[in-house]
Parts: sequence; structure tokens; C-alpha cells
Amino acid sequence: MTLWGGRFKENLDKVAWQLNSSLPFDQRMALQDICCSEVWADGLQRAGILTEGEHQEILRGLQEVRSEFQNKKFKFAGSDEDIHTAIERRLAEVTGPVAGKLHSGRSRNDQVATDFRLWIIQTLPELDSYLAGLQAVLIDRAETDMEILMPGYTHLQRAQPILLSHWWLSHFWPLQRDRERFAQMVGHLAALPLGSGALAGSTFQVDRKALSSSLGFATITKNSLDAVSDRDFVAEFLFNASLTGIHLSKLAEAIVLFTTSEFGFFELADAFSTGSSLMPQKKNPDVFELTRGKAGTLLGLLTGLMTTLKGLPSTYDKDLQEDKIPVFAAFDTLAAILPVISGALETIKTNPVKMSAAIDPSMMATDLADYLVMKGIAFREAHTIAGKAVQAAADEGIHLDKLSIKKYQNLSPVIEDDVYEVFNPKKSVERRNVSGGTAPEAVKIQLAKAKSVQAILHYQMVQTRCQ
Ligand code: ARG
Repeated sequence: MTLWGGRFKENLDKVAWQLNSSLPFDQRMALQDICCSEVWADGLQRAGILTEGEHQEILRGLQEVRSEFQNKKFKFAGSDEDIHTAIERRLAEVTGPVAGKLHSGRSRNDQVATDFRLWIIQTLPELDSYLAGLQAVLIDRAETDMEILMPGYTHLQRAQPILLSHWWLSHFWPLQRDRERFAQMVGHLAALPLGSGALAGSTFQVDRKALSSSLGFATITKNSLDAVSDRDFVAEFLFNASLTGIHLSKLAEAIVLFTTSEFGFFELADAFSTGSSLMPQKKNPDVFELTRGKAGTLLGLLTGLMTTLKGLPSTYDKDLQEDKIPVFAAFDTLAAILPVISGALETIKTNPVKMSAAIDPSMMATDLADYLVMKGIAFREAHTIAGKAVQAAADEGIHLDKLSIKKYQNLSPVIEDDVYEVFNPKKSVERRNVSGGTAPEAVKIQLAKAKSVQAILHYQMVQTRCQ
């Protein structure tokens, strides 16, 4: 028997029932649903719909249902359509008919919107801890690998030497922005829809502001029609998750590339690499490839939700039930990837010899141009002279640092013997001592900043009615 069976002569067809049911996935919001019911019962009591005795009865029943969930004792019935109806059905079994009063002035439309917001609010700190965990690993690596030089790339072509620490930290800051973006969502999330009813608001004078603070929300939604259909917070969550996925994918792609024999900059620990069933020599970076692959899946979840929302008219439509699967999947995906990437990077071996061997003197061609600028030559002209030096060295089949002083002076009379210092990669890195640059001094300042922002807590634990 459904909770809405009154106006129907026949039961819903079995296959239609299965399509309609959201229980397989929305049972993840059981505890949030119970919380919302508790505060709704408080509201109904204060509005004079429940007597104090009925109120206490309902609270006692809800507490019992909560323990059943917590102790994994809760038994779903075949007639449970979704988590809201399952809890209401069980409450009635526990308390008897008084449970029937709980749904006064409430609809599953405002209930599901509230439960879902609450679920995301309560889940964000866990997600934040995974992101902060990976950041901590990147900080550690940056600290230990401070002396190591590597080639920096643009267009995947060798560009300029950089510090490996600087490179590690280049993957720290996107994660910091991700953490901030997730935290900023709370501003939109923490508006309470409860009291909006099915669409037009509740007839009972329930103090929505009081319900909002009991649940730890910051405010109440302003328009009941909007409140039951607003899924902006779902889109925001999925966008943030997708962008995090893209950041992780970029990092993963670099590791896949740098662990090839061609590069050999890194070697994965056995515990984070996989073998081939056919080729005994293989050590594959599957966990990074999966990270890269799952970034595509995350983006698909966002695209699916946005496409669902795009076609909808105002207020609640059943299409909205499709919003939970992508959010749970996105969270589960990030919760699966982040600890693995953290472990893999914590244990990855660096090969400083291969890294510095990949730095050739042509990568200091910009330094040569800068040297000429310091001698008073305009940068454009300096660029041409340095370009000609690169060409002259290539013609002779030698590197820039082996080109004779005579040849250099033919290119420009301002060039002196000190030109050869330009080709020392360590010095090249040290010269980039601008804040945010790759010089060791600048990287140390950056590292200190990274440590201090990484430690900032983005979520305060608010004591709410339902803890
Ligand atoms: N299971 C539904 C959902 O997740 C709950 C709301 C149902 N509302 C309704 N009018 N049928 O969206």
C-alpha cells in the first residue's frame, strides 16, 4: 500500500513501481530524513498541530527508527517507495496512528529538497579532508624535493628549468581553489526549503526560521515554488567535483608521462602500480590512468544533471529524482581516487639524475636573451640574437654553452666571458626570484603560504537539534 493510494482503484504496475522507486539510492539520506522529521515535529507542536504528548511520541519513535538504521537493523518493506515513505511507514509501526500526523503541512517535495541539502552539507567536510590529505602530501614532497631541478614544459616541449618543488606545488593550488569552491557552496546550500509544502507553502504556522536554526541552516528559502525545484546546489556540487576531477587528471597525466622509460623522472612504488597479465616487464600506472578516466565520468554526471534540469517547467517534477545518483556517484568517485593518489605520491620515487639530464643548455636561451637585456639591448633584439646563437650552435651540432666566445661576439659585441654562467640551470632557477617564481627563495615563501592555507578549517561544526 502506498502513502498516496487513496484515490486509486488499482495498484501501480510492478515494472512502473520499479521505475518510480528511488529507495535503492535515496536510502543514503535516511539519517538526514529523520533529522528533518524531528524538527518538523517540533514545528508542528509549536504551531499547535501536535500536542506535547504526540510530539514526544513521534520523537521517541523517530529515535527508535534512527537506532535501527545506525545498527543496520532497519528492514525495508516491499511497499517502500523511497526513503521518506519507508521511514514514515516504520514510524507508524513503532508509534501507532500518531505517526500519521507528522506529514501535516509537509510534502516529500520540500522534504527531499531539505534532506538532500543536509546530506551535502554534512558530506562536504569529509570531502575536504581527502583534498586536504592530498595537499599535505604535495607539501611534503615539495619540502623534501627542494634541491631537485627538472625541465619545465610548454606545449610538452622542453622550456625552462624549474624546481621539482615548484612543480609539486603547482598541483597544490588548484586543490586549494577546489576546497574553497566546495566551501563557498554552503552559502547557497544552507537555505532551508522545509515549510514550502508541495509547492505553495504550508497552511500551518510553522516557524521556518526556528526549524532552520535547529538544523544548522543559515537561512530559509524565500519562495516555495523555487524552493521545491531549485537544484542549483546539485549543479554546483557536480561542477566542483568535475573541476576537481580535471585537476586530478592533469596531475595524473603528468605522472603517467613521467613514469615512462622515455622520461623516467619518477618510479611508482609496487604498492601503487599494476602488472600486465602477458608482459612480465610491465609496471603500469593504472591508478593514475583511472583517475584521468574518472575525470571524464565526473564531467558526464554534471552534463547529465544539467541536461535534465534544462527541460523542466517550474516547481517539482519527478525528473528531479534523477539528481541523487550523480551526486552520490561523484562523491564516491572522489572519495575513492583521492586517498589512492595521496598514497601513490607519498611513495613515488624521484630520479633527480634523469630530471637534470633532461635539462639541456638550449633551455637557457631565454636567460641568454635576458643577459643581453641586462647589457642594455632591447628584448626583441635580444631574442633575435639568442635565436641566432641557437641556430649557430645547431649548425655546429653543439650546445649553446659550447659555442665559442668569438662566435658570440660576432652576434653581439656586448657579449663577454661571463655569458657562460647563463647556462648553469641552477643559476637560471635562482634568477627567477619573483614572488610565485621558481627560485628556491620564492618557492620557500610559497611553501610557507601553502602550509598556512592548507591548515585553514573551512567548516565549523555547528551543534544542531539532530546530533
Ligand atoms: N523520491 C522523490 C524524489 O527523490 C521524492 C519526492 C516525491 N514527490 C512526489 N511528488 N512524487 O524526488
